[in-house]
Amino acid sequence: MQFMEDLKHLLDISYPIIQAPMLGVTTPAMVAAVANAGGLGCLPLGGLSPEKSLALVKETKAKTSKPFAVNLFAHSLTSEVSEEDIKIMENYLEALHKKYNLPFEHKPISSYRFYNHHDQIDILLDEQVPIVSFTFGLPEAQILSQLRERGVKAIGTATSIKEAALLDKAGMDAIVVQGIEAGGHRGSFIDKEPLPQVGLISLVPQVVDTVSVPVIAAGGIFDHRTIKAVFTLGAAGAQLGSYFLAAEESAASEVYKERVLSSTDTSTELTQAFTGKWARGIGNSFMEEMKNSGLVIPYYTYQNSLTAALRDFGKSGGIADIISLWAGQSASQSKSGSTEALFNKLIQQIKSDTNPIF
Ligand SMILES: Cc1cc2nc3c(=O)[nH]c(=O)nc-3n(C[C@H](O)[C@H](O)[C@H](O)COP(=O)(O)O)c2cc1C
Repeated sequence: MQFMEDLKHLLDISYPIIQAPMLGVTTPAMVAAVANAGGLGCLPLGGLSPEKSLALVKETKAKTSKPFAVNLFAHSLTSEVSEEDIKIMENYLEALHKKYNLPFEHKPISSYRFYNHHDQIDILLDEQVPIVSFTFGLPEAQILSQLRERGVKAIGTATSIKEAALLDKAGMDAIVVQGIEAGGHRGSFIDKEPLPQVGLISLVPQVVDTVSVPVIAAGGIFDHRTIKAVFTLGAAGAQLGSYFLAAEESAASEVYKERVLSSTDTSTELTQAFTGKWARGIGNSFMEEMKNSGLVIPYYTYQNSLTAALRDFGKSGGIADIISLWAGQSASQSKSGSTEALFNKLIQQIKSDTNPIF
């Protein structure tokens, strides 16, 4: 299959299998394990400070000499928020904090500090990272030409045909198409339109017919059958996230891993409760209560910051009901074990298929 070969050549990898960037879950050790096994590991750096980003890149480089990708959030940081909505949300969350004897810090809006791709790009160029993937937006032409001049490959994320066409036109080298099955945040970025909720089986062939670059399919993929399915639909690569959630190298807390391993096909739902951006996770009481509250949820980065202390407390205390349990519709098929073993299992399954795709 030529498109698969094109992607392998583009990214300098042996197998067209990609470990999805998962902020809060993917560690340098996970990225390196996939890279060393011949796939593409993706290091999530979305929203992190330049210093933290640099440390994570260096840590990954110390563990592998193979190419890996870093993932950035390409959204604008200037979204308007209502101070009134934030105040109401703070009061709501403060009451919830009290349930856990946890103090709540009221901060002036002006004291929030957020980061996006603009703050990180120089570091990545200095570190000669070979591949940069983006989600939540279309990076500016000037950023893309900076990458191109240094030979860095750029990958965009789309959740609709229209988004994919915009990314193609902007000159992305490859496009991740994220179906509605996918765990974590929707990569959608056309803000004035309703959230695209297209399934992967519909999205992949339609995007393949629209764009000129290799398409990487993401959402609900967990074994050789689902991988074969997306290649049959025209994808050049398969990106798996939830499959690696319970891996030894995953930074997910024990209680998160337990919820993933005991989940079923109907355990996940889309929510804005934790961060203000639509994301798919295993349902819990925080999501339910926030929905029932009827409150306006301040947009991403603010809501993400407002709920951070509660989520951290949930993580350290093993309280799954206040953690964002990001996971996709096939998360129940995740397995524990080392990342290397999980990756090799996929390759073995594919190779022992009666009609193998590679
Ligand atoms: C815990 C978690 C965190 C995620 N974080 C990111 C991220 O930082 N950047 C990104 O582009 N996608 C992120 N995603 C989405 C994945 O890249 C990918 O689209 C998704 O995992 C594919 O669906 P699957 O989980 O069903 O395999 C995340 C997904 C999960 C489950």
